[in-house]
Amino acid sequence: MVEEKPASVNETKEKVEKLLVKWKSKRGSLIMALHEIQGVFGFVPWSAVEIVSRELNIPVSQIYAVLTFYNYFKLSAPGKVIISLCDGTACHIKGAPSLIDAIYNCLGIKDGETTADGVFHLQIVRCLGCCGLAPVVVVNGKTYRKVVPADIPKIIAEWRSSITKK
Ligand code: FES
Repeated sequence: MVEEKPASVNETKEKVEKLLVKWKSKRGSLIMALHEIQGVFGFVPWSAVEIVSRELNIPVSQIYAVLTFYNYFKLSAPGKVIISLCDGTACHIKGAPSLIDAIYNCLGIKDGETTADGVFHLQIVRCLGCCGLAPVVVVNGKTYRKVVPADIPKIIAEWRSSITKK
């Protein structure tokens, strides 16, 4: 497992701007762009909405209307720690299903569920755009690459301790 440092505000901004590059030239790409943002962050942060508005030249009011029309989209984090586990083709082949099982064994949650204490939320996503690092897990913007099931308890312990320190 190779880790990246936690995402700072600037890193978050950079991530959103980077993922929007491919959507800029495509008409009608708002929903796909928002879907991808939620895949990375677990929800669509307000700061991301402002960037989407600027980069795709769409009024914030229109983006807000889309976000509130579809139940799928979340405007706030469903748990303090959002685990986005990629089960796209590359990650699936490289073992994502065994990671899903490992998370269930550790936390007792499946896709779309939050632990009873409201700390951990799991969402299964499709392709985070870094297939060469498969299988990939992103926790609150921090990317874990080439994850194996034995890494899952360590990742959870790391985040549990960071939450209790706050
Ligand atoms: S399939 Fe997982 S990052 Fe592309």
